Amino acid sequence: MSVQARQRRVTVPEIASAKGQAPLACLTAYTAPMAKLLDSHVELLLVGDSLGMVVYGLDSTVGVTLDMMIAHGAAVVRATRHACIVVDLPFGSYEESIEQATHNAVRILKETGCAAVKLEGGMEMADTIRHLTSRGIPVMGHVGLMPQRANAVGGFKVQGRGDSGGAAVVRDARAVAEAGAFSVVIEAVPEPVGREATAAVAVPTIGIGASPGCDGQILVTEDMLGLFPDFTPKFVKRFASLGGEVESAAAAYATAVRDRSFPAAENLFGAKSG
Ligand code: KIV
Repeated sequence: MSVQARQRRVTVPEIASAKGQAPLACLTAYTAPMAKLLDSHVELLLVGDSLGMVVYGLDSTVGVTLDMMIAHGAAVVRATRHACIVVDLPFGSYEESIEQATHNAVRILKETGCAAVKLEGGMEMADTIRHLTSRGIPVMGHVGLMPQRANAVGGFKVQGRGDSGGAAVVRDARAVAEAGAFSVVIEAVPEPVGREATAAVAVPTIGIGASPGCDGQILVTEDMLGLFPDFTPKFVKRFASLGGEVESAAAAYATAVRDRSFPAAENLFGAKSG
């Protein structure tokens, strides 16, 4: 799927059929201006609940609400024309029952205009995924490190270590794919586990700290731009260092204000020039 050659939006079935094809480039987006900049370069933009930490300064994704996801999801959809937009179901919005998951996934699709929802979980979420997908709600799975469960596993830790840990991640990926997920995010697992899970499922795996053998990769955009100074996971590659640029620009602006070189009189309405 050549990004340059097409204008219309990438669809869920197109993502699903990219298994074994050219790797899918995916990024997160939370705001309209950033989504607009990224849109033509990637196949998929995820409005991830990582926005809780990146945008709202929370310690984890646990406090993110459905209303936050809907507001940011709608902004990203409005700003884009090309990428397939997926919005996270936040913690507490889908685990209680299949009915709760359906109700909230429908709200996300209707109120944002996105193409699909993502939810975290393995075997234990298979029935929910089967129900949603059989009723026309496309679902992206998310296994391995599941940040919404950081309290349960003692932090943001690599998952799938050891034979039984690795087998559990592969089993989870297979369960969500067989339940109907159109792709599966695999986060923070040893490289061989990412590769094995990719070989075990018929839909594209999207790796984040998993394996170059995954069918696609995703990063938190602010991490790869050097815009999120609080914490950068080991697997992140910085493709730019915009944090420093922002600070330099802020300092230059403040200096210009203080020495009255900004605003320039000739750019102001009704100011006499000369
Ligand atoms: O919330 C998020 O941004 C995610 C990605 C890191 C995969 O789930």
